[in-house]
Amino acid sequence: MLQNKLGITNAAELARAEEKISKKKAIELFESGYLDSLRPGTYMALAEIHKYLFEEIYDFAGKLRDVNIAKGNFRFAPVMYLKAALDNIEKMPQSTFDEIIGKYVEMNVAHPFREGNGRSARIWLDLMLKKELNVVVDWSKVDKEDYLMAMERSPVKDIEIKHLLKQALTGQVHDRDIYMKGIDHSYYYEGYAVYRTKELN
Ligand SMILES: Nc1ncnc2c1ncn2[C@@H]1O[C@H](COP(=O)(O)OP(=O)(O)OP(=O)(O)O)[C@@H](O)[C@H]1O
Ligand SMILES: [Mg+2]
Repeated sequence: MLQNKLGITNAAELARAEEKISKKKAIELFESGYLDSLRPGTYMALAEIHKYLFEEIYDFAGKLRDVNIAKGNFRFAPVMYLKAALDNIEKMPQSTFDEIIGKYVEMNVAHPFREGNGRSARIWLDLMLKKELNVVVDWSKVDKEDYLMAMERSPVKDIEIKHLLKQALTGQVHDRDIYMKGIDHSYYYEGYAVYRTKELN
């Protein structure tokens, strides 16, 4: 399990604490207006979101990972190419729905942080959708298992994730409950070895 600032040595206990604290911080991020000050589509925005959510828990909050990682059979961007990948992703266009999802998929392939990429990236995705199209995702309209399958498939083909997210768009861009559903959308898989983020050597 991961080293943490809370001195927790039990994986289930860490998962519970992480969930509770990141939710509290997500509300603060929204209410303080700090979220609105970030530049949609930039790596800096994602890093600031990650830092905000996880700085009470992990030393690596907001920092690029220095280990190679995988989920299932998929290896995320090698550390060696991570910075270059993020520079390229940042330059990707984001003026249409398809472009925004394409960018989100590439950011998932990069997986810049050791843990907490999903929660941070869903908020980052909303920032782009909100700025460019004046919509956000209502994650309560996205089945968790379908989402996970679509994300697993997305590095090869992003048609499923586009379809899944398109039918869940809403114009309620200032609704805090809808925003929080993205944070709440974690798939409780940490106990299942197949879904856990693996460190590679
Ligand atoms: N096999 C896979 N291949 C590619 N991407 C995957 C795979 N499995 C999961 N993902 C993506 O990785 C994200 C999870 O990353 P990570 O565990 O770092 O973040 P998290 O915030 O803990 O997770 P969650 O998304 O469950 O809240 C998922 O939301 C999904 O988008
Ligand atoms: Mg995780």
